[in-house]
Amino acid sequence: MSDDRSETGVRRRSVLQTVGGAAGIALLGAAGTTAAVAQDGTENGQPRYQLPELPYEYDALEPHIDERIMELHHTEHHQAYVDGANDALEEFEAMRDAGEFDDVRAAKRDFSFNLSGHVNHTIFWENMSPDGGGEPEGTLATAIDENFGSFADFQAEFTATANNVEGDGWAMVFYEPLADALVIGQVEGQNELAHQRAIPILTLDVWEHAYYLQYENDRGAYVDEWWNVVDWADVERRYELLTDVDAPDLEDETPADPDEDEPEADEPPGEPGEPGEPGPNGEPGNGGPGDGPMGPEGDGGPMGPEQN
Ligand SMILES: [Fe+2]
Repeated sequence: MSDDRSETGVRRRSVLQTVGGAAGIALLGAAGTTAAVAQDGTENGQPRYQLPELPYEYDALEPHIDERIMELHHTEHHQAYVDGANDALEEFEAMRDAGEFDDVRAAKRDFSFNLSGHVNHTIFWENMSPDGGGEPEGTLATAIDENFGSFADFQAEFTATANNVEGDGWAMVFYEPLADALVIGQVEGQNELAHQRAIPILTLDVWEHAYYLQYENDRGAYVDEWWNVVDWADVERRYELLTDVDAPDLEDETPADPDEDEPEADEPPGEPGEPGEPGPNGEPGNGGPGDGPMGPEGDGGPMGPEQN
């Protein structure tokens, strides 16, 4: 691997780890907050997740979200997802040690639910700021206009999406790489209605624990107030990291020895095919092991740089 390619791989991995990849991955570390995972784990080095600190005080989002909600939400609810994810990891290890996997189905479900809860909340905290509100600017504003027509149309769709989540769940804005588009989706619970490969850049928790103490059953009032604390700079940063990835130039993979490109004798004559362009998603090519968002090595593991 050339130095350039290595740098590209590191950058790609860093982006996926910090923006919300397959496991959601929050934009941690880069914002100066604590990491959501620590390699404090076990004999085999498997990581354990940790509750990140908030980038502001519990009362910082008042009057829109009150202090007690934030404190309980962070220290009790989010912590429970962290603990649940770690418990599942320990179950997996116990199963492997015993060579018995009778309970694997329940454990895998627990892990999916709790890890998703951890990731969703981590992004949620970072998406908010006491200096938030208003409207996005720059590349994000342009993308919203292109995808939704206008910010007003985007806001109307997102608000309706949040207000109409059935039961507990989330409204999210995803960067959807196949279409290179922004989409608004619902998540039920923490991980139902998956949008495979789509990466959340804005998450809104509409579980009752997120608002009931202040707004009782008026979810709509909570959603309306939440717009006042959205940190558009954070959302834009996530969007730009996802869409400004330098995909490796496949032409660089042309073998140095042109003879190696000679067609086989039984191949039809003609030019060897050009390597395809990276897809419309701007997505990098086939990453090797460890390049993905859950790659086991490098750059602080699956949940971003370690700071704890
Ligand atoms: Fe929550």
